[in-house]
Amino acid sequence: MSGWREAYEHSLSDPDGFWGEQSDLVSWFAKPNVILDRSHPPFYRWYVDGRLNTCYNALDRHVINGRADQAALIYDSAMSGVQVTLSYAKLLEKVAAFAGALRAFGVGPGDRVVIYMPMIPEAVVAMLASARLGAVHSVVFGGFAAAELAARIDDAQPTVVVSASCGLEPGRVVAYKPLLDRALELCAHQPRVVVIKQRDELAADLIEPRDVDWDTALRAGATDPAGCAEVAATDPLYVLYTSGTTGKPKGIVRDNGGHAVALTWSMRHIFDISAGDVWWTASDVGWVVGHSYIVYAPLFAGSTTVLYEGKPVGTPDAGSFWRIIEEHRVEGLFTAPTAIRAIKKEDPEGALVQRRSLDSLRNLFLAGERLDPQTYQWASETLGVPVIDNWWQTETGWPIVANPRGLDPLPIKAGSPSMPVPGFDVHVLDEHGNACQPHQEGAICLRLPLPPGTLPTLYNDDDRYVSSYLSAFDGYYLSGDGGYIDDDGYVFVMGRTDDVINVAGHRLSTGSIEAVLASHPAVAECAVIGAADQVKGQIPRGFVVLKAGHEVDHQSLASELVVLVREEIGPVAALKDVSVVSALPKTRSGKILRKTMRQIADGAEAPVPSTIEDAQVLEALRPALRKQQPAAGGDV
Ligand code: COA
Ligand code: AMP
Repeated sequence: MSGWREAYEHSLSDPDGFWGEQSDLVSWFAKPNVILDRSHPPFYRWYVDGRLNTCYNALDRHVINGRADQAALIYDSAMSGVQVTLSYAKLLEKVAAFAGALRAFGVGPGDRVVIYMPMIPEAVVAMLASARLGAVHSVVFGGFAAAELAARIDDAQPTVVVSASCGLEPGRVVAYKPLLDRALELCAHQPRVVVIKQRDELAADLIEPRDVDWDTALRAGATDPAGCAEVAATDPLYVLYTSGTTGKPKGIVRDNGGHAVALTWSMRHIFDISAGDVWWTASDVGWVVGHSYIVYAPLFAGSTTVLYEGKPVGTPDAGSFWRIIEEHRVEGLFTAPTAIRAIKKEDPEGALVQRRSLDSLRNLFLAGERLDPQTYQWASETLGVPVIDNWWQTETGWPIVANPRGLDPLPIKAGSPSMPVPGFDVHVLDEHGNACQPHQEGAICLRLPLPPGTLPTLYNDDDRYVSSYLSAFDGYYLSGDGGYIDDDGYVFVMGRTDDVINVAGHRLSTGSIEAVLASHPAVAECAVIGAADQVKGQIPRGFVVLKAGHEVDHQSLASELVVLVREEIGPVAALKDVSVVSALPKTRSGKILRKTMRQIADGAEAPVPSTIEDAQVLEALRPALRKQQPAAGGDV
């Protein structure tokens, strides 16, 4: 493969040729002859007549090709102090055994398996075992509470749910099983079997006969391990729920064939990682970054993936990341800017970096939220390696805009993730659908068809797929992000244009938090905005108006609402700040002026509303809005 420009132009002028060539990166049971099926626009399908197995590509073929003894997965828990290395042969053995167990519980091709687990190797084993059977996994992030888990279980209708007795967060053991039991009480759908990994820190009560112990299931599965089911390239590999603008999460579908090709391609050409290299993504398997770059891509590539259970700071200190790099000789690290900001806050001079040898590290990749120039600068200077921003979404599954470190690396511009990745036809459009001029901000859109690995649709909901993403501008996918392209073609992503907010690299819907606040009997109406935060990028802030006649203590109500959101959505919502206000500013048609509120909260100039009443409402709100910290990356 030659340079970026040639690859990019080839991918757009001849997608069938480009992605046909790249399909050789994957082992197929039946090689595809049809590369891109355009017969049902706006639905496009890649490799329609190809047949493969994702787990085979992640594990079996590497064992067959001489990597049996190479480390596939290094588990490093800063929470428990445990370190485990699993070779490709060992990981395959466990996956085949657990797939055997799942099969014995009735899981077959197309059946769903919900995985609600902390960052332990069993989570990876469960994902790959599901893939091995041609089943469809749906991983739910551990920071979600029972009601969110229940909504996902009811939508996915799994045959089996796999979970663990607990997760480990700084200073507390999070009992997962009671959350799962509560979720299943709320669910209309019931799984046939629940498999629980009992961890040393906490034993869960098992409800027989539904609940089965992981170790027992694994032993039984080992007596009849499962082989790889042959699936169509277009069959779903997983469904991952993500926040939309409404409270109902969107089930992003990922298919098997396009995913395997795109991720394998990305590992070498974007992330500069080859077979035998050591790669670490510090995220969580509950997010898309974890799916793609903790589990699938590094294993497709035959590299070693590090699975880290811990935080960037406080477990035990801001030097954990540097310890991991030194101990495991990590060559590429991928995390979110938030993690770097948290480290910078604790160790601004980088003293803990100096204590470690980071000579193995070639690149630091950051994504999940905007990389502010100060954080970029600090990381570049402190680590002395290229710091590579890359922009993408759960929907796309891999980077849309990035600096291709394995093609020909482009000059870095702070504040931009660089250039569009081959396969992504990136445009910035104004509200009428016209192309914006260089530097003119608009909606970032992708001309259809999207490349392999991106979402073919939403789970069981083609209509919502079209209405959410494809209906704004004919022939384009609407990313939901705003930004601009400069004279050199560099893309600058400035933030969401909808009601999605990004808290510590976690995507949340203000709509779903508002729904919880509005459910309180004292609340007449409410608004949630994402206000700038120095470490987390954004944090949610809630504003509620009381129902007439409700005399409640404002402080107690605010605390109650914080607890309610934690119970209903989960700690990940990170809502800590609720203000009781007398009114909310609205447009004439009754839409709350959330953007104006956010601008005031962030200390920016906000346009004054057209009516005197609105201006007065805003003036009254100003003190409550303005008690905010500087934006991400700002001086501490
Ligand atoms: N299970 C249960 N609870 C969880 C959880 C999990 N898997 N993950 C997070 N939580 C809890 C946290 O304990 C915290 O609870 P608290 O309010 O009682 O303190 C809450 O959810 C909010 O978590 P978080 O937003 O992560 O904040 P934090 O203060 O614990 O940590 C950072 C802040 C910056 C250190 C942390 O967010 C981080 O490491 N971010 C890296 C970014 C990242 O991984 N992004 C993923 C996409 S790339
Ligand atoms: P998620 O689907 O959780 O990965 O979140 C996707 C959203 O995170 C995007 O729509 C952006 O708003 C934001 N995002 C991710 N990566 C970047 C980046 N490199 N720069 C700016 N925003 C980003």
